[in-house]
Amino acid sequence: MDLTLQYPISTLDGLILLPADTKLTAATMDRLMEDGRARAFPTKLIMNHGTVRQDIHRFLTLPPYNIVFADPEQTGYVLTLFEKVTLPVPLLKIIDYFKEHDFHTYRHSLMVYALATLLAKVLGAADEEVAKESIAGPTHDFGKINVPLAILMKETPLTPAENRLLKHHVLAGYVLLCYYLHEKDSATIRLALNHHERKDGSGYPQGMKQQSRLVEIITVADIYDALISRRPYRQIAYSNRTALEELCGMAERGEIGWKVLRTLIALNRASKPNPEELIVSAEKRGAPPAGNMFGLLTD
Ligand SMILES: [Fe+2]
Ligand SMILES: [Fe+2]
Repeated sequence: MDLTLQYPISTLDGLILLPADTKLTAATMDRLMEDGRARAFPTKLIMNHGTVRQDIHRFLTLPPYNIVFADPEQTGYVLTLFEKVTLPVPLLKIIDYFKEHDFHTYRHSLMVYALATLLAKVLGAADEEVAKESIAGPTHDFGKINVPLAILMKETPLTPAENRLLKHHVLAGYVLLCYYLHEKDSATIRLALNHHERKDGSGYPQGMKQQSRLVEIITVADIYDALISRRPYRQIAYSNRTALEELCGMAERGEIGWKVLRTLIALNRASKPNPEELIVSAEKRGAPPAGNMFGLLTD
């Protein structure tokens, strides 16, 4: 793995963990884990933090999640698991930071967690595998604390330089989580780094052919939740149908896999069909909302 930082990485309180131009070698990551271990951060239950419990319960009742999470047994499973998840206090402070400054990322972090956990369960993952996602889901975008808010909240197309800074969130997340969780190979750490990689190698930061199902589940949940949300650069969210069609387009191009996507589509149908028997129409009837600036670059 050859990853070199284009920008420094710092904690929320301004401590520079690694300067720009650092190569993320195994030795660098080992040193970072040791530094983090020496600080011994206390941990707390995420559900007891701030208004997380009441917010997540409320987000689950809002469309389209009211349909996706219509089965009380499945939803109960997800919430019971989430009740057990702890995070080091500095990572809980990142949740507070997003809640205050970038509410979308706050909500998105909680919902990607919830949806990924549900998808993993429905796909038949063992409980301990699903539990891994309980911590990975909310933390996948935490590197965004190193992206200026002016970029996160920008309503017009990003310049190439701003886009590079935005993409830097995957390396920042990887480094920050390695430091705070003292791990460098866990699912959580890999997800922070790889959630924008695609199966066909068209993603970033490495352009590798993403093969982990765990990563794919988060990726599908991540893209879906982003599409159905109102964003600074897109005042109108994708309709649920158009969002799912957009994901089907990605599966047709080989960027994501059909198995996870079919499970998401099945969860979106009130009748909850078996994902294996689901007939997905190839016809695209939806249209992206007008004024969508996502992915558009100026120079
Ligand atoms: Fe991301
Ligand atoms: Fe995300």
